[in-house]
Amino acid sequence: MTVLVTGAYGQLGQDILKTLKDNNINCVGFSRYALDVTDYKALERCFEKYRPDVVIHCAAYTNIDKAELDKDLCMRVNVTGAQNIANLCKKHDCKLAFISADYVFDGKSDKPYEIIDPPKPINYYGVTKYEAELFIRKALEKYFIIRTSCLFGYFGDNFVKNIIKKSQSQVPYYVVDDQISSPTYTADLAGFILEMIKSDKYGTYHATNEGQCSRYELAKYIAEYTNSQNYPKPIHSKYYTTLAKHPLYTVLSKSSLDLGGFKRLPEYRDALRRFLKTLD
Ligand SMILES: NC(=O)c1ccc[n+]([C@@H]2O[C@H](COP(=O)([O-])OP(=O)(O)OC[C@H]3O[C@@H](n4cnc5c(N)ncnc54)[C@H](OP(=O)(O)O)[C@@H]3O)[C@@H](O)[C@H]2O)c1
Repeated sequence: MTVLVTGAYGQLGQDILKTLKDNNINCVGFSRYALDVTDYKALERCFEKYRPDVVIHCAAYTNIDKAELDKDLCMRVNVTGAQNIANLCKKHDCKLAFISADYVFDGKSDKPYEIIDPPKPINYYGVTKYEAELFIRKALEKYFIIRTSCLFGYFGDNFVKNIIKKSQSQVPYYVVDDQISSPTYTADLAGFILEMIKSDKYGTYHATNEGQCSRYELAKYIAEYTNSQNYPKPIHSKYYTTLAKHPLYTVLSKSSLDLGGFKRLPEYRDALRRFLKTLD
């Protein structure tokens, strides 16, 4: 099996590439500079050269707030890019694993979102992720759409690393206490994606670490675990202005994993402790 990874120098992409290599899977990964997913001709040459059996499409425009000001680029990367990849997967009879997001939902639910719940994004990033999903579902049979949330991992910047920095400084800091999701460790997600692409159980799945918490609870746990003297202070998101609207509750139900016979990911605090040890 040959696996092609887009966005391979991003936070998740790097852990996916590492997991594939650790499992002796033949793989190639490309940064944005080596392979721009908005460039169909470049993608076509790449498919011809490497003849992948599976594409794991991690490349995305992921700056949720900036996307509100940069809609054109966000649309080109997240929608046109996904369309290009899907069209080439169809042409080459290749499986596609597309990474989507909890932000396709509006966050107004009071219970974990199921696969059958209708998406209703409230920010532009969410709109583009959902549009890409719709295209892939129409264009392909051999697809996995994997919705995940609040990623943290060794590579790249993320919320957890930012909180570690803040908790080690002397400067007071506020964290929203009404945005709730399931923090997810990229190494765990990468292992799960490897299991999934080996199967032919195509469809849409929710894959996050187990458990849920607010951003504030997560920050407080990090400060406690790292013995910080500088604890976060809670703030309601209506007092914390951001360019994009952020959905309040985006916990994803994992019943799709149970139905598909996939093992659920570990609990998020267990994942966080394993991650924090990698920083020692
Ligand atoms: N981070 C989260 O909390 C989260 C939550 C839910 C879902 N997701 C999804 O998970 C996936 C991976 O996210 P991540 O956190 O790993 O994001 P990331 O670190 O921002 O990685 C995305 C990668 O895509 C690359 N990229 C951007 N435009 C590109 C283009 N035109 N062609 C090729 N590559 C391009 C970026 O390169 P540059 O850095 O050079 O721009 C970056 O390396 C994304 O699909 C994201 O939507 C993430």
